[in-house]
Amino acid sequence: MYSDSEILKIIKNGISSLDLNKKPSGLYAPIEYIISVGGKRIRPRLALLTYNLFCSNIDEKIIYPALALEIFHAYTLVHDDIMDKSDRRRGQLTIHKKWNENTAILSGDVMSILAYKYLAYVPEERLSDVYSLFTDTAIKVCEGQQYDMDFEKDPAITMEEYKDMIGKKTAVLIACAAKLGAIIAGVEDKVAQALYIFGYQLGMAFQITDDYLDVYADPNFFGKNVGEDIVDNKKSWMQVETLRYTEESDKKRLFEIMSMSRDEAEAKILAMKEMYAKIGIKEHAEKEIKKYYISAMKSVEDIGLDEEKINRLKNFAEMLITRKN
Ligand code: IPE
Ligand code: IPE
Ligand code: MG
Ligand code: MG
Ligand code: MG
Repeated sequence: MYSDSEILKIIKNGISSLDLNKKPSGLYAPIEYIISVGGKRIRPRLALLTYNLFCSNIDEKIIYPALALEIFHAYTLVHDDIMDKSDRRRGQLTIHKKWNENTAILSGDVMSILAYKYLAYVPEERLSDVYSLFTDTAIKVCEGQQYDMDFEKDPAITMEEYKDMIGKKTAVLIACAAKLGAIIAGVEDKVAQALYIFGYQLGMAFQITDDYLDVYADPNFFGKNVGEDIVDNKKSWMQVETLRYTEESDKKRLFEIMSMSRDEAEAKILAMKEMYAKIGIKEHAEKEIKKYYISAMKSVEDIGLDEEKINRLKNFAEMLITRKN
């Protein structure tokens, strides 16, 4: 099997081969800017990894569809940063800040279409399966993003509603990546489905970790502004869990903090972190992330992978939940 660093190299070479240096540069330069600078590239890495569990020759029929997921993901980030009013991403200015919102909208649109272009490299006999998987996934991501925005205005979101929202905005794309590799490798449905569930559970752990990092990340590694979820009244895992466990007598305070304005960002972040600390949120989060990690690993127990392959999935999963950015 290819190592993870070899897989990353394949992805980087693939990205360099995309022809993004095109005109009009006002449309393409922002795409090159966001795609070339990197990010963790976990979705194509996972797709290449699950493919490589069953097939040894990594070539363009898996590389380009894997890159399609990265391009689609990057598109969602470009639009997400407008929606979330975020200035920094991957350690640099977001596209709507460096250029403007109209640029971010249109460059994002092209990226979502480019994703379909590169998905079409799958072998013809798998095209219909891959297209329906990807289309269903892409629609769910938008649904999840809409819930994410709707929830900003609702102070009392339940854990169930939260999990449904992150399942859609984040977990389905990671699940899709894991299944894509398996489908292109031509495995039986049962195995592809087990990998989908693996990716979904991992995706849940991934978004809870993202919510955790939004509050507690080291700004030197994070690449995004810390504390934005609090300022935006996002119903992050931290917020929803805190509402669940805060004593009745303290709830009023919690809602007061949520109603603080963007002009009081620093004070709002500090006050909310105090509420988080009161319920001992770090331990709660660690436990929840571990729970999803364990169920991810459980879902691939019985699909006939040898120890080396299980370990590769395990290392990948661990990397996702112990990351610093
Ligand atoms: C950020 O995704 C958005 C979420 C779904 C949490 P990543 O954390 O994968 O972002 P990059 O691609 O590494 O920048
Ligand atoms: C983003 O969630 C999910 C998608 C882009 C679909 P977040 O809004 O938490 O992602 P970050 O923190 O901005 O990367
Ligand atoms: Mg968002
Ligand atoms: Mg965001
Ligand atoms: Mg986030």
